[in-house]
Amino acid sequence: MRILIHENYEALSNWVAHYIVRKINKANPTPDKPYVLGLPTGSSPIGTYQQLVQLYKEGNVSFENVVTFNMDEYVGLPKDHPESYNYFMWKHLFSHIDIAKENVHILDGNASDLDAECAAYEEEIQKVGGINLFLGGIGPDGHIAFNEPGSSLSSRTRIKTLTYDTIRANARFFGNDINKVPKTALTVGVGTIMDAGELVIIISGYNKARALQKVVEEGVNHMWTVSMLQLHQRGMIVCDEESTMELKVSTVRYFKDIEQEALRHLPQIK
Ligand code: GLP
Repeated sequence: MRILIHENYEALSNWVAHYIVRKINKANPTPDKPYVLGLPTGSSPIGTYQQLVQLYKEGNVSFENVVTFNMDEYVGLPKDHPESYNYFMWKHLFSHIDIAKENVHILDGNASDLDAECAAYEEEIQKVGGINLFLGGIGPDGHIAFNEPGSSLSSRTRIKTLTYDTIRANARFFGNDINKVPKTALTVGVGTIMDAGELVIIISGYNKARALQKVVEEGVNHMWTVSMLQLHQRGMIVCDEESTMELKVSTVRYFKDIEQEALRHLPQIK
């Protein structure tokens, strides 16, 4: 697993955006062979999305032949609710780039048959040939998408009940009222994420420090579902200094040393 430790959130976001643009441009996608991205919501990717929009506006990338699959969505929130993940994605990214509406896939948490919705989502991913790059964030309890502690590490897209920890963490988006946070969500599984060609996980801030320590310095464990990253051939964590507070000094030094070249330059986008 690669671990890139940037000075701060801004540097991390800029680096990840350049990395994604480089990948899209290198793939030279076409309508028949699109570049397929898995995407997260939450505060962690917002800076990356802002940079992606900027790079698009400057003419460095086109999303015309990019297909996206979002990780998760709350069950029961109307699509146009300001805290739905659908609303979030259009607000922060899709409305500002040249992506085709039909190329955007977001689980429908209001589908009449939620199990069928999840099964169809897996099929859609297969139909486009799988996800090239899955971008992710993590919860303070080390969950990826909504794969809460104890989730099967080979799980597929399904309905999950959210833990009290997650509901509390997300209450800040619902006027700090935990009663307003949906109790269930649809989410891609850990197995769905692991099938992607590569994984890029953004970890930022001190409240993720414990999870980062578990993922990097301890073993694969269903209580910290993002730890499955250790078993992926192309897994990368892109984090900031603050999130490394619980890592050993030697761990931080080691990864800074082996990644010093990558950290010095932004990935080339042309
Ligand atoms: C939710 C999402 C996750 C996300 C997490 C962290 O639980 N389902 O995909 O990674 O929030 O959010 P934030 O980046 O705001 O800390």
